[in-house]
Amino acid sequence: MLPIIQNQPPPNVIDLGLGDPPLSLLPLELIRDSAQRQLARDDRSFLQYGAEQGDGHFLHVLADFLTRGYGFEAQPESLFVTNGISKSLDLICTLFTQAGDTIFVEEPTYFLALKIFADHRLNVISIDMDENGLDLAALTATLAKYRPKFLYLIPTFHNPNGTTLSQERRDRLVQLAKEHDFLIVADEVYHLLSYSEQPPKSFAYHTESENVLSLGSFSKLLAPGLRLGWLQAHPNTIKPFTACGLLDSGGGLNPFTSAMICDLIESGGLQGNINRLIENYRSRLRVLDSALQQHLPQLRYQIPHGGYFLWLALPEHIRSNDLRQKAPAFHVDFRPGTLFSSRKGLENYMRLCFIHYEEQEINEGVRRLRECLLEA
Ligand SMILES: Cc1ncc(COP(=O)(O)O)c(C=O)c1O
Repeated sequence: MLPIIQNQPPPNVIDLGLGDPPLSLLPLELIRDSAQRQLARDDRSFLQYGAEQGDGHFLHVLADFLTRGYGFEAQPESLFVTNGISKSLDLICTLFTQAGDTIFVEEPTYFLALKIFADHRLNVISIDMDENGLDLAALTATLAKYRPKFLYLIPTFHNPNGTTLSQERRDRLVQLAKEHDFLIVADEVYHLLSYSEQPPKSFAYHTESENVLSLGSFSKLLAPGLRLGWLQAHPNTIKPFTACGLLDSGGGLNPFTSAMICDLIESGGLQGNINRLIENYRSRLRVLDSALQQHLPQLRYQIPHGGYFLWLALPEHIRSNDLRQKAPAFHVDFRPGTLFSSRKGLENYMRLCFIHYEEQEINEGVRRLRECLLEA
């Protein structure tokens, strides 16, 4: 049998590391209604090769949505429709780098981005973080030794460590990018999923600078299977994307899905779905937090203000990779810290995700994790 979805854990395992939304929260009804309305119209244009930057009407609708969501004006000319953040990263590497070039990432970082950078044979250097995100002193010291093509960071509700980069650091980072002539590639996939404090401004705010790219996606706001996202940048920075061979041949990315999502944004369905997810995820975060307080009070972590993940520091003597080898016997799983390190560090950390399971399974998963840790 060929698998039908990615990353499916064995049926008896509670995989607290899994970062995918649960099937029950993927909004089939909303998408069905929008698709039915769109397909009933007498308009065939979305079945044709699409405009390179994205359909003009969709770009306006998306800009209005982002203006409301981010709290400052988004311009349609600064938007480029993508197949999601993974494809955006791949295109950025294709267009702005060559094999052997140096790029900077955070330590820790989103592990699957590391794989994309490896596909492009890039030299990855990681910069330390603290509880306020990227450590700019460490960045400045590393800039004295290397000239990176870009810095990839997850500034808001970070995957895996949940941190958010302060406004002051964002502003300073934009200055540093100008001074040292590198691109900031801000992966803002969780920015609109905030459960308590509103985050500082998205990097889209800084796209008057040609050095800034802000990446967004509908994967976490609606459904990953849509493969639709956007990129915000100065119109001059967008030009290489719209002029590249991939778009010359295939046209704009995903005009069909854009048409369905356009209706979903205009009808208010997208905002309604985001509100529903926020309520739900906020309560799942509380459940995971109290289960950890009850069963594993010895583990240290910071409560994130949004996103999907908790990043736990294990007692000094425990290596999360060793612990993971024992986990199948307890029918539980998590993601070890080393996965998120490009220098084989972070050995005594683990990532848990609080959005995938319902209350009962979260509690049971943490109870199993406790058993597993008692063995360590
Ligand atoms: C930080 C981060 N970036 C990107 C992605 C993938 O985004 P997309 O589905 O838009 O390719 C994920 C998904 O887990 C993620 O956590």
